[in-house]
Formats: sequence, structure tokens, C-alpha cells
Amino acid sequence: MALAAVVALIAGVLAGTSSASQAAGSLPCDLYASGGTPCVAAHSTTRALYSSYNGSLYQVRRASDSATKNIGVLSAGGYANAATQDSFCTGTACVITVIYDQSGRGNNLTQAPPGGFSGPASGGYDNLANATAAPTLVAGHKAYGVFIAPGTGYRNNHTSGIATGDAAEGMYAVFDGTHVNGGCCFDYGNAETDSHDDGNGTMEAIYFGTSKSWGYGSGNGPWIMADLENGLFSGVNQHLNSGDPTINHRYTTAVVKGGANKWAIRGGNSQSGGLSTFYSGVRPSVSGYNPMKKQGAIILGIGGDNSVSGQGTFYEGVMTSGYPSDATENSVQANIASVGYGNGSGTSGALAPGSRTSLRATTSCCTTDYVTHDDVDTDVVLSPVTSSSSATVKADATWIVRAGLANSACVSFESANKSGQYLRHYNYKLQLAAIDGTSTFSQDATFCPQPGHNGQGYSFQSANYPEKYLRHYDYDVYIAANGGSNSWDSATSWSDDTSWIAAQSWS
Ligand code: AHR
Ligand code: AHR
Repeated sequence: MALAAVVALIAGVLAGTSSASQAAGSLPCDLYASGGTPCVAAHSTTRALYSSYNGSLYQVRRASDSATKNIGVLSAGGYANAATQDSFCTGTACVITVIYDQSGRGNNLTQAPPGGFSGPASGGYDNLANATAAPTLVAGHKAYGVFIAPGTGYRNNHTSGIATGDAAEGMYAVFDGTHVNGGCCFDYGNAETDSHDDGNGTMEAIYFGTSKSWGYGSGNGPWIMADLENGLFSGVNQHLNSGDPTINHRYTTAVVKGGANKWAIRGGNSQSGGLSTFYSGVRPSVSGYNPMKKQGAIILGIGGDNSVSGQGTFYEGVMTSGYPSDATENSVQANIASVGYGNGSGTSGALAPGSRTSLRATTSCCTTDYVTHDDVDTDVVLSPVTSSSSATVKADATWIVRAGLANSACVSFESANKSGQYLRHYNYKLQLAAIDGTSTFSQDATFCPQPGHNGQGYSFQSANYPEKYLRHYDYDVYIAANGGSNSWDSATSWSDDTSWIAAQSWS
């Protein structure tokens, strides 16, 4: 670990882990500046990337009245003020409209326009990200990442200071290593200013995912690759470079940098340890990539030509002017690891991991009914429980809160009387099932608490279907969207049916 990072870490420890900001000069863009390769774009919905940054991180827009709100930091150089978003978005849906550039160059990211491909939104624009779909913790503070479902994308085609031609640049991003796919192309970085494929070498972005359409590395992916246009490169060769490993940490740091006939791929675990170099050398052995013809737009979540089939989650990232040294990047990684992405419990009070609770409905029909599992089968239903109910029924309606199996900022519910069995959805219906170790199970059993949609208690967002929330419907329990093709997606009384009191447990 670099000396500066050690000093920052000690300062952080002395200040206490709940400190809302970090030692001056220790944040990623401070470190790139000291290394002589300053940030020319700095994007994050979770924290400041300069120790002096005290502005807005991003903007959200709510569905109820289309009003927008800027989300800032808790203090200069600190973490996102997610509570502002939670109160602004209570009872409605919010999307992320702007991801502000902290570098002062105005390189903000907004809804991507159509290009070689059109997005699904009006006018061929891409969708905007659901603002609550990627909850996380950073230094113990709740924050939200940018959840890119296929069709979602951000872009800036009129930038300032971003590398063009064969000029040198660096970039890193922190992604969710478990939210990936093989579509083209979940990217962050430099792309064409006209949103079209302008030929080999007209872009240079970090790609993260499992696409094997162009290049790939060892194992099954995901891989960090460089999207250089008409090619995702894992090394000097066109297809397989086995030096580029599968990397899928829950929080993954991905680095790509490029200069005159040189480039590199690096990566690591954002929660601990350093960066490894997966490739460092000359430009690919395919014509058109040396010299490069970078155009200097910035993309997030899409390919250079606005291909919109990729998915992933972005927490923070920057682009620099100049080719950063490995040492500078290593100190940036030390800073990322020191902030503790995902560490600790995102929930407290009735939903603190280890506590027991019973989930009571708030709809007027049902205020003495609870989420209960059957004794005879694996069904989960909404059922009345009173002080005179049997001990078995009381235990059937009692849940032990666990840190979310797929996301520790969220929760999972283990049955109080069927140890190792969890509340999970299957075909959108809730059932009780034994933990099976698959990532589908973990996601199906993870729910992210938000303020209750009707102003009471909590609403529990599905970790893998973020538009759906835990809902009772006709005394069964589902994950349900507010309007949709299934009967239980009915918009009638959706807010009430998706709002739950985490009550004192019955057993
Ligand atoms: O290089 C891979 C992809 O190819 C680019 O992102 C896109 O512009 C083109 O379709
Ligand atoms: O409940 C929806 C999906 O149905 C779950 O993710 C999966 O386990 C099943 O296919």
C-alpha cells in the first residue's frame, strides 16, 4: 500500500469509521492529480472523488410529478446523501437523470441519444436507470449505484478535456461483478461523438461482462476488456488472451489506459487488496488500432454506436488526461478499498441482521395479517395471527433478518422454525426454500428495504427485479410491479399492499 494511502487509512481510523469525509488529498482525483494525470471527468453516485468536492453527485426525477432533485454529499469530500433521495422518492418511482462531473469540466452524463442503434425510450433515446435498484453501503453510509438494465444508457457527446486521437488517457470504474451479461456492451469511457461506429480505434472504453463476440479471457467471465470499436480486446490478440482472468468480485475495480502504441488492463477487488495487471503492452495485432482515433465522447452502459444490450452496475469512475502510472492507480485502489463498499449492515432497528420480526400488512383489509409460511407445504401466504394463535402459527409468522444473501445493504428473511430456509420468489410468488448456494437463489431471496410506499413501514424491493416489491394479493404473497401483465401487478392498492410494518416478532 502506498504511503499516502496508509496515512489516509490511519487518519480515517482516528477520525472514526462513521466520519463523513476522508483525509484531504486522499481521494481518487486528488491522487491522479498528484501523479500528474488529472481527472478530466469524475462520476459517482456514491461519494465525492475529490476531497474538496462539495457539489451535487447526481440528479433524480420522480414519476409522480416529474420534479427533479439534486443529490449531494453529506460533507465536502464525503458520501452521498441518500436520505434526500429516499424522502424525495417516497411513494413514487425515481430515475437518475444526470450524473454530474466532479472535475469542473462539465462532462456530465445524461440520457443517451439514438445512434447506430436506437434505445427503447421516446425518440430512440435510451432508458434512464431506476434510482433505487442498486443500493449499497459506502463507509457504512447508504448510497445508490447506477443500475444499467439492457436498454439503459448515459452519454456526453460534447465533452471538454477528454483525450482525442492517439492522446493518452486512463480510466477506472467500480462495478458490481455479479450483475453482468454477454450483450453489447456495458462500457464506461471514451467513444464516438456522433454515437455511430466510426471504425476501428474510434473509441477506448472499459468493457465489463461476458461477451465472447470479439475478445475474451480465461474461464467463463466476466472479463475486463477494452472496447476499442469493432472489438473488445482482452490483450494483444484478437480473440482469447488467457492472461485476462474471470473477475467477479461483488465490487470489482476495473482499469483501462491507453497511449501511443501502449495500453493496459488492470483489475482487483474493490473491497480489499491491490490491482493486478492483466495486460500491458503494445496495441492489438489487428489493423486500425494504432494509432488510435479517439473522439472523446463519454459513454456509460452502452457501446460506442449506442448498442443497448449490455447490463451492469456502476458506482464510481473517472477518466484522466495522460497515462496514469501503476503506482498512482495502486493508491487509487487503496483508497477505494479503504472506504468499505458493502461493509456492515445497511439496515438497523427492526431490520438489523440477527433481529426477529413479523411482517404485518398495512392495507385496511388486513392490518392483523402477517407473512406466514404453511406447515404442510412451501407456500407463503398472508394470514391472521393473534396472541391466541398456536405457537406453531406464531413461529410460522416469524422471520430472522439476515444480511441480504446477494447484497449486504439489503436483507433476507430466514424462517424462525425452519432453519436454513428462506423467503424467496419463484415465478414471482413467494415460497419457503432451503438455501441452495446458487446466485439465482441469493437474488430471489434478497429484498432491499425502502420507506413504505404508503408512508407506513417499509417496502421491500426485489434485488433481481427492481421494479417489483413484496406484495400481498388475494392473501398470497408475490413480488409485484405497479401495473403489469400478472393479476398481482394490479395498480389498485399497490402502495398499500407493498407497505409492511416490521413488527415485534410473534415468537
Ligand atoms: O467494439 C464493440 C462494439 O462494436 C462497440 O461498442 C460498438 O460501437 C460496436 O457495435
Ligand atoms: O420469481 C421470478 C423468477 O422465477 C425467479 O428469479 C426464478 O427463480 C424463477 O424462474
